[in-house]
Amino acid sequence: MNEEQRLQAGLATEDAPSGKTTEKDYSKYFESVYSAPSLKDAKKRGKKEVEYHDNFQIEQRFKGMGQGRKFYIRTYGCQMNEHDTEVMAGIFMALGYEATDTVKDADVILLNTCAIRENAENKVFGELGHLKPLKLERPDLLIGVCGCMSQEESVVNKILKTYDQVDMIFGTHNIHRLPHILHEAYMSKEMVIEVWSKEGDVIENLPKVRHGKIKAWVNIMYGCDKFCTYCIVPYTRGKERSRRPEDIIQEVRQLAAEGYKEITLLGQNVNAYGKDFDDITYRLGDLMDDLRKIDIPRIRFTTSHPRDFDDHLIEVLAKGGNLVDHIHLPVQSGSSDMLKIMARKYTRESYLELVNKIRTAIPTASLTTDIIVGFPNETDEQFEETMSLYREVGFDMAFTYIYSAREGTPAAKMQDNVPMEVKKERLQRLNKLVNDMSAEAMKPYKGQVVKVLVEGESKKNPDVLAGYTEKSKLVNFRAPRSVIGEIVEVRIKEAKTWSLDGEFIGVVKEEKVMS
Ligand code: SAH
Ligand code: SF4
Ligand code: F3S
Repeated sequence: MNEEQRLQAGLATEDAPSGKTTEKDYSKYFESVYSAPSLKDAKKRGKKEVEYHDNFQIEQRFKGMGQGRKFYIRTYGCQMNEHDTEVMAGIFMALGYEATDTVKDADVILLNTCAIRENAENKVFGELGHLKPLKLERPDLLIGVCGCMSQEESVVNKILKTYDQVDMIFGTHNIHRLPHILHEAYMSKEMVIEVWSKEGDVIENLPKVRHGKIKAWVNIMYGCDKFCTYCIVPYTRGKERSRRPEDIIQEVRQLAAEGYKEITLLGQNVNAYGKDFDDITYRLGDLMDDLRKIDIPRIRFTTSHPRDFDDHLIEVLAKGGNLVDHIHLPVQSGSSDMLKIMARKYTRESYLELVNKIRTAIPTASLTTDIIVGFPNETDEQFEETMSLYREVGFDMAFTYIYSAREGTPAAKMQDNVPMEVKKERLQRLNKLVNDMSAEAMKPYKGQVVKVLVEGESKKNPDVLAGYTEKSKLVNFRAPRSVIGEIVEVRIKEAKTWSLDGEFIGVVKEEKVMS
């Protein structure tokens, strides 16, 4: 391992230069401390094998860095970002920092950002604006921007130009470098920028402070190689790379031993799991088959790509047990022509065929999806195909979005003849259908008994508890607070569009997970 690799793995041997230094001094010391992102480099997919690092440790010189200091992380975007926040919180705690949920009390504020649509980015710029007075009041406050937006050069340039309240920017490939980045930020007057536009490695053994004790996220793979023409993720998250099965199984076993009740396996495209292994043949179906033997009540995964959803996985999911019968299967559009331009690599017909296979093997399966409306040049007829596919599949729920052009992606260069009013009108029509069909899907629950993993108080009424069924339906009911964290039975009294109200029956006795 050379010095650069050691540094990347968080194993620096030399001390960084101390005292106030300039950008130039640092670039002499170690090139990547001031490395700016490049979408062009991020797009490359070379032959280089994935490197696995499992030797993360906090260097002696950084221990105690956080003594008497508090950190605050605001997270935008998907579950992968939420989970990265848990890792960064783990690193902060290992450095001796204390967590706070009040911005005003924080000594370090991180915005863990999302780049998926323009409005996600605008929220972050808005928040940076709000933080400026706080920084002026307390110049020793550190403000950092990390996550997917940091991987875009246009964002970094905009921050450099307009948001001098920011002290550090780092990307999705180097969150394990947080101790170094903080150190640099404390020592330097300049903005610290460390963003690596590489394909990506897998770093194990990172500390984590999970949000709650009931449900846990577990990364099974990172990155995406699908390059759907509208999407920024393959540029911000690097290439598809899978964690080794033994590391995942070990983590899930540990979580089961700690009493967690539900695991969600995470990846941008979990169905590609294992494709990158060249020493073993082991795919998502194999992983699920191993995980279902672990004594933990519920296992989910997100997000599925229809293209890599193979028969073996369906066969394993059909075994049920702790593998829940809810599958989120983004379709994006019901028009084969649109799907082609989006480079989704499946057609309306093949998607319907897959749905059919899933429903045949798992008749109780609940399906949800993601849809983009107003993709460049989408015609009314093509949009109607999305509406008809939605009805035909009978989805329980959908996340629906108006297409947002992302700089650097192929779709951003396409001419677009669809006016924004038309896109908005289509979204409204689709959302009406989504609501109506969700209400329809809820109706049969009236009078039924469902199993609910109780997560805590309902957001609307602290006297009421709330949790989710295996099919991810929100259930509200009254019960003693002692059942929080348990799986309970509830008789449904009322079915609403997005939730069910019921009557508590009792705690479900421990069920042996595997038959
Ligand atoms: N990897 C997942 C999706 C991750 S992004 C998959 O392929 O299924 C979550 C959702 O955001 C996508 O499914 C898509 O519906 C939406 N999305 C992605 N890029 C978008 C864009 N440029 N404009 C609007 N919506 C977008
Ligand atoms: Fe984006 Fe497509 Fe990858 Fe999903 S599969 S993250 S939509 S490029
Ligand atoms: Fe957003 Fe990055 Fe997730 S762009 S959706 S935070 S992978």
